[in-house]
Formats: sequence, structure tokens, C-alpha cells
Amino acid sequence: MNLLLLLAAIPLIWRLALPFIPEEHLDPYRYWNSTALNTHKGGFNEPTLWRNLGYWDKPNSSFTQANERLARKLLQFADAKKDGNTLDVAHGAGDSLLIHLESNPAQLHALTSLEDETLQARRKLFERAIIQKLNGFPYTTEVKMHTLPATYKPGVHNEHPLNPMRGFVGGGEAAAAADEEEEEPAAEDDAQATFSDDDDASASDSQPPANDPRAPFDLVYVLDSVYHFPPSVEAFAAQVLPALRKGSGVLAYTDALPPPSWSSLPLSLVGGFVAPLLAVPPANLSHRPKTLDEYKALLERVGYTDVRVEDWSEHVWHGIADNLTARGGWWGVAGRVFGFADKTGWRYVAVRAVRPAQAAPKQE
Ligand SMILES: *[C@@H]1O[C@H](CO)[C@@H](O)[C@H](O)[C@H]1NC(C)=O
Ligand SMILES: *[C@@H]1O[C@H](CO)[C@@H](O)[C@H](O)[C@H]1NC(C)=O
Ligand SMILES: *[C@@H]1O[C@H](CO)[C@@H](O)[C@H](O)[C@H]1NC(C)=O
Ligand SMILES: *[C@@H]1O[C@H](CO)[C@@H](O)[C@H](O)[C@H]1NC(C)=O
Repeated sequence: MNLLLLLAAIPLIWRLALPFIPEEHLDPYRYWNSTALNTHKGGFNEPTLWRNLGYWDKPNSSFTQANERLARKLLQFADAKKDGNTLDVAHGAGDSLLIHLESNPAQLHALTSLEDETLQARRKLFERAIIQKLNGFPYTTEVKMHTLPATYKPGVHNEHPLNPMRGFVGGGEAAAAADEEEEEPAAEDDAQATFSDDDDASASDSQPPANDPRAPFDLVYVLDSVYHFPPSVEAFAAQVLPALRKGSGVLAYTDALPPPSWSSLPLSLVGGFVAPLLAVPPANLSHRPKTLDEYKALLERVGYTDVRVEDWSEHVWHGIADNLTARGGWWGVAGRVFGFADKTGWRYVAVRAVRPAQAAPKQE
């Protein structure tokens, strides 16, 4: 009982100590060393650096296999137009971008808040483009890299891919917006030098065609990170909605939900370890939807239609828990926390939602 009390107090101690800990130590991804977690895939110089929780459906999968499987599962589940216009938010070192490229989308926008990840991803895409070219299958995809926060601030991030006016500035030439305000010179960068571009914008659609710089997104894809975005998943989903193609544009992501009994003690306190490990803003946890139906209703209120929420927990928690626990040391501790997540009823869900052709009448 005493031990339980001590355990239960740790999240509280953690929260009290928080203001005194230097910010760089608070980013949990600092401790997720992707080089140590992944097994390198042969044939490439750029290392495989996945960093998600993985989809574990085969015995003895490696971290790398399970991570790639989760990325592909989510893409399959999204069921969006394959050769349209894709935005990958928080792509990490860029391994998921290579998967998007396989279907040769018209445009691929890649967004991360970390300059290092933009550079890693660019190297990876460059390597892949060369290999493809040597094999006689060059991509026609136009790639755009953005080093910006996931959440778009109107008036601050003019060239943010979620800015509904993106590309309308400067006579429809997104690239010409170079003298718009930008945080870093590399923020809006054009990797198309490595890809051939075809330029036949000639559709009579009411919305710009996929290869137009103003084109809406057919897919906004967020693998295993939406729960970090401040202030809430709901606010992020609301920002994405106007950036999607009307009638077919899909938002697809994975999310982690605290157990329905979250607010009752001691579950919430024990489960409170999981939130910091995933970098979930703790303030919002008790506001998260309690059931999959509630989750669906939440996105419908935001304005989405055709919402699907699937529980993938049994393919996620114990797989990552086993893999990390077997590594011992601090990985082992993280592994046990994911074991906790499983036992205390945290859920790992996949979500896909579509922008309707017409905005639904406002409901109460
Ligand atoms: C990450 O792990 C790799 C391989 O185990 C190691 O060489 C590297 O030093 C580690 N990086 C950090 C920042 O700990
Ligand atoms: C998985 O790995 C364990 C331990 O290394 C081994 O005992 C077991 O036979 C393996 N299972 C399969 C299906 O390969
Ligand atoms: C965990 O993943 C690593 C690297 O991908 C792999 O080598 C190892 O066999 C996995 N361990 C378990 C227990 O699944
Ligand atoms: C999440 O927390 C922030 C900060 O406490 C608050 O402003 C926001 O309204 C919360 N969002 C939800 C959906 O509860």
C-alpha cells in the first residue's frame, strides 16, 4: 500500500518539479534514441530511424518492422486518394515520407518543427530519388519541406501548409513567397530539384487540381504524434479541415487515450506515468473522449463526416512493452510503463475523418 502511494505521488512530484527542470530535458524524444532502437535496412546509406510505438502482429517482430507496419497500416486505413496531394505532419527522420512516395503523389508536403529532422528527411528523399532514377522510375512528386510547428498561427506562419490562403499570396506561386515572413531561411524549401516536375494544371474542378500550388490536401497524415500538439487534438483537427479537399480529403492519425475511469483514483495517478512518456499535455487528459463513439461525435462536431475510429491497442501496447523491456536499463523502465498503459486501459486508436462536400449545418 505504501509503495502504491509512493508510486501514485510521483506524477504529482513530477508536475511540481516541472518548472525547475531545464526545458531541453523535458522533451521525451530526447530520450528516444532512434539509432539505438532501429535495425538498419540494407541497401541505403541513410539510416532507418523510425520512432513510433509500432504495430505488432507477428511474433518476434523487430522495432523497425513494427514501426513500418504501423505507418503502412495507417496509410491503408486512411484510404485516401493515392496520387493526390499529401501532407505528413511530424514526419520524424522521414521514413514515412518514403512510403508516401511509393504511390507517386502529385505533391508531398513534409512538416516538422525540428530543423534536424528536415535535414535528415531531405537526405533520405534525395537518396531515394537517385535510386529511383537509376532504376528508371523517377518520381514526378513535387516535394515541399516545412520546418514549422504543427499548429498554424494566422498572420505568423503565412506559408504553413495548413494556412487556407497558402499559395494565394504572390499570384498563386507558393515558391515566390520567399520574402514573406519566415522563421528560418530554410523553413519553406523546395526539394523539387531532385524530382522532375510536370506542370499541366488544366482541370475544371471548382478546387485547384492536385498539382496546383494552391491545391487542398487529399490526405493529412499524422503518425503517432497528434497527442503532443497543443492545445488539443480537437483544435488541430479543426485547423486541418479547411485545408482538405471538399468531399474527399482525409485526415488520418493515431492517438492515445487515457482509460475511461481516468478521473478515478488511483488509476489516473498510476497511469500518469504514461502521459509524460508520450509527451501528452496533462491538462487535457480528463477532457479526452471516453469511448470510441464519443471520439467519433467529437470529430463530427468539428465538421467531419465519415469518421472511423478503430482500437488498435492489442497490437500496440504489449508489443512495444515487450520489445523495450527486453532491452533492459532505461528502455526496460519505458517498456514497463507501456505495460502499465496496457493494464490500466489506455487505448491506442486509429482515426480517419473526411471533409464533407458541404459544411454541415451548425449543431449544438
Ligand atoms: C544513440 O544510440 C547509438 C547506438 O546505440 C549511439 O551510438 C549514440 O551515441 C546514441 N546517441 C545518444 C544521443 O545517446
Ligand atoms: C521468439 O523469440 C523467443 C526468444 O528469443 C523464442 O524462444 C521463440 O521461439 C521465438 N518465436 C518465434 C515464433 O520465432
Ligand atoms: C526489438 O527490436 C529490435 C530492433 O528492431 C530487435 O533486434 C529485437 O529482436 C526486438 N526484441 C524483441 C524482444 O522483440
Ligand atoms: C486543453 O488545455 C488547455 C490548457 O489548459 C486549455 O486552454 C484548453 O481549453 C484545453 N482543451 C480542451 C479540449 O479541454
